[in-house]
Amino acid sequence: MSTPRAPRWSVPLPDLAGMRAVVTGASDGVGVEIARAFAGAGADVVLPVRNRGKGDRAIAAIRATAPEATLTLIDLDLADLSSVAAGADALLAEGRPVELLVLNAGMIALRDPVRHTSVDGFELHFQTNHLGHVALVDRILPLLRAGGARVTVQSSLAARFHRVRFDDLQLEHGYSAFRAYGSSKVALSLFALELGRRSTERGWGLTTNVSHPGIAITNIGPAEMRDAPGAVARTARRIMDAGVGGTPAEASLPAVFAAASPDAVAGGFYGPGGFLGLQGPPRRRRPYPSIVDANAARRVWTVSAKLAGLTWGGRRAGASG
Ligand SMILES: NC(=O)c1ccc[n+]([C@@H]2O[C@H](COP(=O)([O-])OP(=O)(O)OC[C@H]3O[C@@H](n4cnc5c(N)ncnc54)[C@H](OP(=O)(O)O)[C@@H]3O)[C@@H](O)[C@H]2O)c1
Repeated sequence: MSTPRAPRWSVPLPDLAGMRAVVTGASDGVGVEIARAFAGAGADVVLPVRNRGKGDRAIAAIRATAPEATLTLIDLDLADLSSVAAGADALLAEGRPVELLVLNAGMIALRDPVRHTSVDGFELHFQTNHLGHVALVDRILPLLRAGGARVTVQSSLAARFHRVRFDDLQLEHGYSAFRAYGSSKVALSLFALELGRRSTERGWGLTTNVSHPGIAITNIGPAEMRDAPGAVARTARRIMDAGVGGTPAEASLPAVFAAASPDAVAGGFYGPGGFLGLQGPPRRRRPYPSIVDANAARRVWTVSAKLAGLTWGGRRAGASG
């Protein structure tokens, strides 16, 4: 979780004092840096974590640059819907509106050819990267509405190469970790699109957009890519060995910009501005076709609500489309 060199780029943020930000996946990598940016601008930041020890270390790292920051851990494992519900309930019990939400947590099991399922029975990438986040948003919707929240989802370059396979959502056939990861990121991105649309339609007051970090040297990058088989990992290894890619702090900037800059727009797609979006200062980018398909977004919403038993403020899952 260390930051090896000073970031080459920065994002000026407004004063976020008095705002509450929730950042998933802030126990490591890019998420620590997103949380650090918000804390540095004065926000009170909640870190939902599945590992308290790592959460404590992340808080200590953030305090090194933002000593006055208000930082809170809640226990939340995205791969367990009962844990997501409990974590969300902890936030609901406090009752504080949430102004910024970044759905950044993610995993990829490139070195493991075996398909795994969560305790809830869903393919692990699908649940961790997508469904757990959707369940979190469903549960804390009252707080997001109260805060007029900006919701940013962390996608990936991998989303460019994949789509949601509605006929095999759990990748029971032809599983590969890269496919599972890529389609989970497409699903999450489409969820953001539909959440924004529904919010406008129903007057929830939320705005949503999508970011991706490019290539960042974190756990998910080198550790998974280093020994992974296959052409994708080989290419990624070459890219990283050539020194391309941002530090976690640099790679956090598209999400930081998307979530908190006054210049970021609802529905925008933000990523590094350099060659192929691998690294560079954050810019608005042209979204991949897979993440702007309105019909697919509606299907993702409906099927996710059904699978996770979501209610969206009391409505039956999937009701009203
Ligand atoms: N690094 C890249 O090159 C790259 C490229 C494209 C997209 N991304 C995306 O950027 C985001 C941040 O990744 P990163 O590079 O910072 O990776 P990372 O260093 O591995 O951090 C991932 C974070 O997600 C958390 N997480 C994983 N599974 C979880 C679960 N079941 N419940 C709760 N939290 C969980 C991890 O928690 P623990 O600390 O407990 O493991 C960690 O805080 C991810 O969404 C990733 O897909 C990264």
